[in-house]
Amino acid sequence: MTVRALATADLPRLVELEHVLFGASAWTLGMLTEELGAPGRAYAGVDADGVLVGYAGLWFDGDVAQVMTIGVDPAAQRRGIGTSLLAWVVDTARDLGASAVLLEVRVDNDAAITLYERHGFEVLGRRRRYYQPEDVDAFTMRLAL
Ligand SMILES: CC(C)(COP(=O)(O)OP(=O)(O)OC[C@H]1O[C@@H](n2cnc3c(N)ncnc32)[C@H](O)[C@@H]1OP(=O)(O)O)[C@@H](O)C(=O)NCCC(=O)NCCS
Repeated sequence: MTVRALATADLPRLVELEHVLFGASAWTLGMLTEELGAPGRAYAGVDADGVLVGYAGLWFDGDVAQVMTIGVDPAAQRRGIGTSLLAWVVDTARDLGASAVLLEVRVDNDAAITLYERHGFEVLGRRRRYYQPEDVDAFTMRLAL
């Protein structure tokens, strides 16, 4: 499976995937455009039959890397794409010299929590009402590198 860098040509498809995957908290075109060009960010994706079906991004601040997002088209889930993208995040963070990878995940997102735990992430704490407008708590998780 090839994990490739995202480009501005991917933006329309990213908007589509965000909407399907994250509903009310989906990033807009403006937010995605800003993210892809922001300092310290790295974004990558996976294609199937020439169409972007998964993507992930991280922010490295000079010490730790933060998972900004990870998502796979529902029609392409459970085929190992999320695993490849998370492995890319961890490898990229390590290459950048990060001491750890941090992330937030909805406490009710069993699929993502299982994926993260299988990569060695551990729950650090809980942020109350972190996700708005859904009003759902987040677990913070950490992987030491
Ligand atoms: C989380 C997500 C990225 C996983 O992507 P994926 O391509 O399906 O992941 P993989 O196929 O690599 O699955 C890896 C493992 O994660 C776990 N997993 C994935 N989806 C699962 C589900 N629906 N239920 C339970 N476990 C699940 C399984 O242990 C799976 O291994 P297995 O298929 O051998 O049992 C995907 O479900 C997704 O995009 N969800 C919506 C967006 C989201 O919540 N992103 C995370 C925000 S923090």
